[in-house]
Amino acid sequence: MTEDMTEQPTLSEAQEERRRFATLLLGGALIAYAAPFPVVLWQYLTASAARRIVAEPKVLGNPSTLFAGTEAVFTKLGSKNVVVLRAEQEQDAPKALHLRCTHAGCTVEWQPNRRRFVCHCHGGEFHADGSVAKLPPTQPLERLLVKHEARGLVLYDVALEP
Ligand code: FES
Repeated sequence: MTEDMTEQPTLSEAQEERRRFATLLLGGALIAYAAPFPVVLWQYLTASAARRIVAEPKVLGNPSTLFAGTEAVFTKLGSKNVVVLRAEQEQDAPKALHLRCTHAGCTVEWQPNRRRFVCHCHGGEFHADGSVAKLPPTQPLERLLVKHEARGLVLYDVALEP
């Protein structure tokens, strides 16, 4: 009887030991499984926030003052380098184009004598309206919105079709 009493607690300790080990193993597996979740959540939230950032509209001013002595005004809107080209007709809105080649992202140069944008990376060219003049780019330059408002011309980070 005494022998049985001493064996019984030993068996229970072994079971308890296995239970602790199984709990530890399960806890470790759960932590390993769930650990990346906060990182992934953080990346998702910060990426979403970055996508929501849109540049504030930029007041360019009175067109006659803005284009005094030039047909092209270079400016920055958010992270974009932009050129605003005077409209050929007074009543038309100027064209604003993002100076980023649509082939591989190089900065394009405005050549007023040829009325073309030239990309020095691979020789691509664009017309003054942003349409493709010479391959390899196949997509036009991104065109931004310019509006006549009471405060003058205002540049918006809203992409338009060329
Ligand atoms: S990046 Fe402009 S032509 Fe390739």
